[in-house]
Amino acid sequence: MTAVAKPGSTKFQVDLRRHLRETEEDRDLTRLICEIADASKYIINSIRTGDLGLAGTSNLYGEDQLALDVLSDRILRKRLIHSGVVANILSEETTEIIKVAPDGKYSVAYDPLDGSSLVDVNLAVGTIVSIYESTNIFQPGRNQVAAMYILYGPRTSLVYSTGKGVHEFSMNQLMEFTLDRENVKMKPSGSIYSPGGQRNLYTEGTEKYVRFLEEKGCKLRYSGGFVPDINQVLLKGTGIFFYPHLRNKPNGKLRLLFELNPMAYLVEQAGGKASTGRQRILDLQPQGIDDCAPIFIGCREDVEKAEEFIAQFG
Ligand code: AHG
Ligand code: MN
Ligand code: MN
Repeated sequence: MTAVAKPGSTKFQVDLRRHLRETEEDRDLTRLICEIADASKYIINSIRTGDLGLAGTSNLYGEDQLALDVLSDRILRKRLIHSGVVANILSEETTEIIKVAPDGKYSVAYDPLDGSSLVDVNLAVGTIVSIYESTNIFQPGRNQVAAMYILYGPRTSLVYSTGKGVHEFSMNQLMEFTLDRENVKMKPSGSIYSPGGQRNLYTEGTEKYVRFLEEKGCKLRYSGGFVPDINQVLLKGTGIFFYPHLRNKPNGKLRLLFELNPMAYLVEQAGGKASTGRQRILDLQPQGIDDCAPIFIGCREDVEKAEEFIAQFG
């Protein structure tokens, strides 16, 4: 059962660094995760006050980059290089791997600001990070040593795992992350669904799965932001998010290395499941930095039911 903070309870006045020290023996990993947490303070500031316009450039996917994407990428990259423990960096906002130090201990893939196009309509956005203890970033997601995200919403929250459970922190008025929920656990099956992509492009299997969920009485919860949408399924412990294979996009839209793998790692650590509809996300062998894959992620039984519909109807 997820332990939830009781206001004022001393047990939960645990800040991120202390929690990592108590649960994670690797000091370098602690340092890396804390550097990323620190970078989020500057990203928050750029979201609250920054330019909402276009950067005048586009990313590897041909998507217009916003000034915020480029600024957030620069903030995070600088902190990772500063950490002194990073070998290679891969960002959604760059077209190739950034080599930092040949003897660096970790390789980091990140989406510096997911959902950035939602900032100008004041919806929640986030930073997603995937960490390998290797110079090689092209590994299946099951080899990650840590994953985390920061969610810039009404609260600024941080969720991380180093393979010993999933833990949620909130940023307090001193801009420190203090523990809210420890060892988050998902139910076997849920009551919300978060359907990404265009419904009219769904395949028969996905269409029938959505009908099944609606007949089960599930409620639709979709903001268009991957981080808040996943955060809701994960922390309420109920339901499923999917951005499926579409008739015109068999690999869906979301990026394997810095969106799907970190979220799949976190959800599996909480007892959930993450699948392309046909296989486990964390078993996919990345081929290129721009790999995309369909995703069904959330409560184990809900994902397994989706796999049944996809197996039977495509
Ligand atoms: P990004 O802003 O990093 O490009 O990612 C946006 C993603 C993700 O946040 C969300 O789940 C998905 O785009 C929504 O895509 P559609 O607009 O096609 O629904
Ligand atoms: Mn993204
Ligand atoms: Mn992004």
